Amino acid sequence: MIIVFGNQKGGVGKTTLATEFANYIAEQGYNVTVVDVDFQQNLLRNREKDRSLYEEEPLYEVIAATSAQIAEFMKGVEGATGHLIIDFPGRMDDPNLLPIINKADIVVVPFRYDQNTLESTGAFIKYIEYAKTKAKIFFVPNRIKGSVNYRISENADVKLKQFGELTPQINDVVAFERIDTLRQNPAAIERAKPVFDLIIDRGGLKKQ
Ligand SMILES: Nc1ncnc2c1ncn2[C@@H]1O[C@H](COP(=O)(O)OP(=O)(O)OP(=O)(O)O)[C@@H](O)[C@H]1O
Ligand SMILES: [Mg+2]
Repeated sequence: MIIVFGNQKGGVGKTTLATEFANYIAEQGYNVTVVDVDFQQNLLRNREKDRSLYEEEPLYEVIAATSAQIAEFMKGVEGATGHLIIDFPGRMDDPNLLPIINKADIVVVPFRYDQNTLESTGAFIKYIEYAKTKAKIFFVPNRIKGSVNYRISENADVKLKQFGELTPQINDVVAFERIDTLRQNPAAIERAKPVFDLIIDRGGLKKQ
């Protein structure tokens, strides 16, 4: 399966949740490869850093694909076994991202309840529609602090539910700033588990 973590907004937790989701399912025995298509290559750099800091053998590979490689790369994906977790950049001006969305089975969209992020999330929804994908969409309210404006959030929830599934919220907790690419962070998993289990279950992920 192709599982994209994307949103047109920076800093919403795409890389963080993609990494911890990969850790979570890899430790359960799912076949996982993580693909970093963000030109910043945060995830790939994190993996390189983790490899220099810790002895542990990784449970999955992290590879980077430039936009030039993406078209070629997507051809090989057809009929492949296992799960590709793809970490998107925070901007969608690269036309090569469109075919990835088109072929995706699942798109996970982390967001926050502030006006700017909601507008960007709306633009990302338009992009997903434009890609004419059959992917299942999950909206993940992330980095939730005590003080959410419930008038905004209720309004947003109603709209998002027209386009996909709204998952439980993930709070803003320091554990997510301390994750790595080699193993689960138990405190982060504790918060993210209801969201991850929902994606596995409703997204129909199989161990293969
Ligand atoms: N639930 C959370 N609680 C606390 N911190 C979080 C949480 N989720 C993400 N963060 C932190 O927020 C910051 C941004 O997260 P991340 O890099 O995953 O966002 P991104 O969407 O990938 O951003 P970009 O578009 O720049 O790639 C990071 O410092 C990360 O540690
Ligand atoms: Mg990122």
